[in-house]
Amino acid sequence: MPTIAPHGGTLVNRLASADARAELSGRLAGAPRIALTARQVNDLELIAIGAVSPLEGFMDAETYTGVVQTMHLPGGLPWSMPITLAPTSGEAKVGDLVALTDEQGALLAGMTVTDVFGYDRELEALKVYGTTDAAHPGVAAVYAQGDTLLGGPVEVLDLPAHSDFTEYRLAPAQTRARFEELGWRTVVGFQTRNPVHRAHEYLQKCAMEIVDGLLLHPLVGETKSDDIPADVRMRCYEALLSGYYPAGRAMLSVNPAAMRYAGPREAIFHALVRKNYGCTHFIVGRDHAGVGNYYGTYDAQRIFSEFDPAAIGITPLMFEHSFWCNKCEGMASAKTCPHGAEDHVALSGTRVRDMLRAGQIPPLEFTRPEVATILIEAMR
Ligand code: ADX
Ligand code: MG
Repeated sequence: MPTIAPHGGTLVNRLASADARAELSGRLAGAPRIALTARQVNDLELIAIGAVSPLEGFMDAETYTGVVQTMHLPGGLPWSMPITLAPTSGEAKVGDLVALTDEQGALLAGMTVTDVFGYDRELEALKVYGTTDAAHPGVAAVYAQGDTLLGGPVEVLDLPAHSDFTEYRLAPAQTRARFEELGWRTVVGFQTRNPVHRAHEYLQKCAMEIVDGLLLHPLVGETKSDDIPADVRMRCYEALLSGYYPAGRAMLSVNPAAMRYAGPREAIFHALVRKNYGCTHFIVGRDHAGVGNYYGTYDAQRIFSEFDPAAIGITPLMFEHSFWCNKCEGMASAKTCPHGAEDHVALSGTRVRDMLRAGQIPPLEFTRPEVATILIEAMR
């Protein structure tokens, strides 16, 4: 059994039971419909499967304000990201049961509206993302939302249909069961939105030396358009795990969340979500969940010290910027390597992309050839 309880103590399940389904569909038949964006559908799924326990729906005004201003839920639990519903069309008032659909109009869930409230987008941007710059992809997503937030619990009829990576779409209850089968008592979670390169592998393997298993948990919800698509990344992860990780010590599963690029605030959120999936430890490296130059390299590590570790529950494992050192002949960081920059293999993301696009395999010190081959193929 993983030794960690979900955030708030109980794993939330907002999927309607077989018995409740017929009755709920009946009640939703004539209900006003609200079409969710892809990002809101991602959030609905997180709520349904308990990935954002203890949340049972979209935030009401009290919860939203507490999270934005103080990073805590009304009951006192740490929580760093708003999970809100600001529809771009449709009307609702307190007490309504509304039908939530996907962008194509397929019915997904019912929501009992307990709160309808206005909010300050710029204040949310500043508090949560640390900037009001509309060029920040997370801020842009907030600015694109409707004017009014609807709060209330959801009851989900059907999870959003997915045709991709179905064997890797494990809900928190399922990863927890799998950890138990594998006999893992301590599990380190790894968040990524990139192919796993040598630096990522190094962090994971350092952590694997002290825990029972690794949950490689790439985010596959909405990401910005210049990030590498999830299907390509999944092939990279499979190649890496089968070639370089012992069977039974690492497991691949996906996180359906959208990427927010909120840096420090998102690092806390990522950690709490992985706690719900049953991880006891969570890796936070350089510029975690960052984008551009909005955050300091280690801001996402420092933010953990603003919380009571017992209330966070999951243990963050912090890593410094890692690289290959030619003199050390291995991966290292400033904590372990005394040599200078001239001995370090440092490649910018742009340089790597240019090499891959030109069909060149980046140096072995940067990425595994199996991963590079998949990326070159995908860029053709
Ligand atoms: S993201 O969520 O932080 O955007 P990304 O794939 O870029 O995902 O990074 C995954 C994890 O690896 C994060 O915890 C990040 O801080 C860490 N990381 C990435 N590259 C390095 C590196 N060279 N050195 C140390 N940590 C790194
Ligand atoms: Mg990064």
